[in-house]
Amino acid sequence: MSEHIEYMKIPNCPEHVAIVMDGNGRWAAERGLPRTHGHHRGVERVREIVRAAPSLGVKILTIYAFSTENWHRPDHEVRVLMSLFRRFVVREVDDLETTGVRVRFIGQRERLPGNLRNLMAMMEARTAQCRDLTLQIALNYGARSELVDAVRVLAERVRAGDLDPDAITEAELGANLYTQGLPDPDLIIRTSGEKRLSNFLLWQSAYSEFAFIPECWPDFTAGLFATVLREAAGRERRFGMVKAT
Ligand code: IPE
Ligand code: IPE
Ligand code: MG
Repeated sequence: MSEHIEYMKIPNCPEHVAIVMDGNGRWAAERGLPRTHGHHRGVERVREIVRAAPSLGVKILTIYAFSTENWHRPDHEVRVLMSLFRRFVVREVDDLETTGVRVRFIGQRERLPGNLRNLMAMMEARTAQCRDLTLQIALNYGARSELVDAVRVLAERVRAGDLDPDAITEAELGANLYTQGLPDPDLIIRTSGEKRLSNFLLWQSAYSEFAFIPECWPDFTAGLFATVLREAAGRERRFGMVKAT
């Protein structure tokens, strides 16, 4: 139903919104269902939120789908998640391409199943020219490993004599993160009432606004998304300066 609702542009809408989609397991447990049922419902919400985002004024949407720590979950749950990610790519690629959504994945790909990696590459290639929304999907993502990877690249360049240590600036480090080329998130939303980052975008969140929402991810409707964006749009961001008069 909600897919047919036209959302109005929100004045001063945060342009880059990042979401920690949390609470799928609890949503299912509260209903006496297996945790994996919550993940299935969660994917449906992704579809709805991605559709609504550009009409509300969001230009970049980053979603946390699987952390480097999530490998420690039971094998069965990890397997279901990997198969849901594959299915998401197969089912959504046509629609995302026709609705102008450019997809890019961030995280370490090596540990992901080969068939999933191939699908991810296909989706990125198919949507590379799309411009209405950038959807950044954090899959096997950890902010600490992202920083370690960036530091390793810089260290190699110093060792090779291509980089002077004095030339390592904030911009240079940022340009070697997985998120290179995209601005930092203006707003980070976390559902399910938890108030932590869980190894998400540690560098990029230096000046992000935060919204912690009590609803679990499968209950995060496009209408609720619009309400959260509207509230955040009214906040004054000072970046260490004094209030503009
Ligand atoms: C978020 O929901 C989805 C992933 C981390 C993959 P959870 O699975 O963390 O749900 P809770 O937090 O256990 O309820
Ligand atoms: C963060 O949620 C990761 C994703 C939403 C993909 P978790 O449920 O894994 O985080 P913790 O364990 O509660 O901190
Ligand atoms: Mg969780």
